[in-house]
Amino acid sequence: MNLEQAMRQRHSVRSYKQTPMKKDTIEQLLKIIDECNKESGLHIQLITDEPKAFHSRMAHYGKFSDVHNYIALIGKKSKDLEEKCGYYGEKIVLEAQRMGLNTCWVGLTFKKIKEVLRIDDTEKLVMVIAIGYGTETGHAHKSKGMKDVSNVSDDSPEWFIKGAEAALLAPTAMNQQKFMLTQKGNTVHAKAGFGPFSKVDLGIVKYHFEIGAGKENFSWV
Ligand SMILES: Cc1cc2nc3c(=O)[nH]c(=O)nc-3n(C[C@H](O)[C@H](O)[C@H](O)COP(=O)(O)O)c2cc1C
Repeated sequence: MNLEQAMRQRHSVRSYKQTPMKKDTIEQLLKIIDECNKESGLHIQLITDEPKAFHSRMAHYGKFSDVHNYIALIGKKSKDLEEKCGYYGEKIVLEAQRMGLNTCWVGLTFKKIKEVLRIDDTEKLVMVIAIGYGTETGHAHKSKGMKDVSNVSDDSPEWFIKGAEAALLAPTAMNQQKFMLTQKGNTVHAKAGFGPFSKVDLGIVKYHFEIGAGKENFSWV
């Protein structure tokens, strides 16, 4: 499965099988996370076999069941921390999809279990991603149109249209899709709208856009 197929097949999954993740799957995930941490300076952590974070009434209210594994998005407090977590978190999510795993970004309905997380005073936990073998594969979300989220027109280059299409497949908090992509020549500006976690959404959307458009075709401004 390539990344484009992974983008199309990924949907949020909130109910998981009790099957523990295979040892080599965990090793593969740890390798991807390690590469992301090295590249970004983030401190992302994989937590396995830990049911407490998703055992509260809040998590059940959020319709989660049998989440035993999750990825904690942690990094040094800074202005761009949320966007970076979005970008690298989605990179891990799509790799996980290729490995036959399911995921769901979770901003609110989980409990922070301090004993299992390594967070120093300069760092912050932004959010988590539930991960495992889903009992189902999820459903395509209702989507805004391309013109709602970009300055696409009849004259737009093919790569920009493909990028905007990929951006609309991205998961966003409460499916808000509050972002705007503006193309001028071979540059693109991505702006977050107002809404909960919209900066995390922006990082996710930028990662999707890059896959759709091809990084070699444009630069971010
Ligand atoms: C930043 C962010 C935060 C999210 N927080 C939650 C959450 O707290 N609880 C939940 O059930 N889903 C959460 N989601 C999942 C979204 O509801 C979901 O991605 C969106 O409805 C689009 O559906 P899809 O992921 O299936 O494409 C979150 C998604 C993102 C990107």
